[in-house]
Amino acid sequence: MEKTFIMVKPDGVQRNIIGDIVSRFERKGFQLAGAKLMNISTELAENHYGEHKEKPFFGDLVEFITSGPVFAMVWQGENVIASSRQMMGKTNPKEALPGTIRGDYGLIVDKNVIHGSDSPESAEREIGLFFKEEELVSYDKTM
Ligand code: CMP
Repeated sequence: MEKTFIMVKPDGVQRNIIGDIVSRFERKGFQLAGAKLMNISTELAENHYGEHKEKPFFGDLVEFITSGPVFAMVWQGENVIASSRQMMGKTNPKEALPGTIRGDYGLIVDKNVIHGSDSPESAEREIGLFFKEEELVSYDKTM
């Protein structure tokens, strides 16, 4: 079953839109495999965003993502990686269409409400960074 890592960023948590975001994924038909409200350490932030290390915005990005609690989740289901990126909309909320999460809630690229893995490789890496295996549930044996 395909899995992806989704994180409501500090701006989304502060604005009380965790519920709406969870609801959108539920309504689409995806299953929640793990979730936690947490503060990210600088070390985890630098690791998670390692591919952007040389970018001019890297320092601000790490500072922002560690500035308050995030809501980290693992969602699973058919085509969840690509589908969730459509649901989130373009990285820059200025380009994200209405109806998408960033299109509905975001204003600027630095505070774009939500993060989601962009490939199977990053999904596996990011899930491994944020979750231990025993923190993810299995639906196989439920009644
Ligand atoms: P995210 O999907 O979490 O991945 C990297 C993040 O860098 C991105 O969302 C943006 O929030 C952030 N970011 C900040 N400035 C920029 C920028 N100029 N271009 C792209 N991403 C940026």
